[in-house]
Amino acid sequence: MVFMTWSGYLSVGIEQIDTQHKHLIDLINALYDAMSKGQGKAAMENTLDELAKYTVEHFSAEESLMQKYGYSGYQTHKAEHETFVQKVVDFKKGFEAGKILLSIEVMNFLRDWTVNHIADTDKAYSQFFISKGIK
Ligand SMILES: [Fe+2]
Ligand SMILES: [Fe+2]
Repeated sequence: MVFMTWSGYLSVGIEQIDTQHKHLIDLINALYDAMSKGQGKAAMENTLDELAKYTVEHFSAEESLMQKYGYSGYQTHKAEHETFVQKVVDFKKGFEAGKILLSIEVMNFLRDWTVNHIADTDKAYSQFFISKGIK
């Protein structure tokens, strides 16, 4: 079962960013798979690590574009990214230390945050970036 799917509803209208979002969703699905197939802790840690790294990479890419073109929503957008990254980092540490388990609640949180952020906060920059010729 696929845990989460990208659909046109999540498109921000900018190909390079849609591609990054699709990859992010693939990584969340990989983590879900690792959890539901009962993979070992080391395998789950690797997947989680990949997700955490790519999340930071994607957020940086968006923030660089916002800064480069002077997007007015930069500060609040960046703050949302930071809050999420902190949550992922805390979870990763807790998981590695054996204090937190990878649960469906954690997976639902990752999925819901990602969908809501793309659908609201990311989509809010669509017209601005498109008007700057970003593809
Ligand atoms: Fe995004
Ligand atoms: Fe974003």
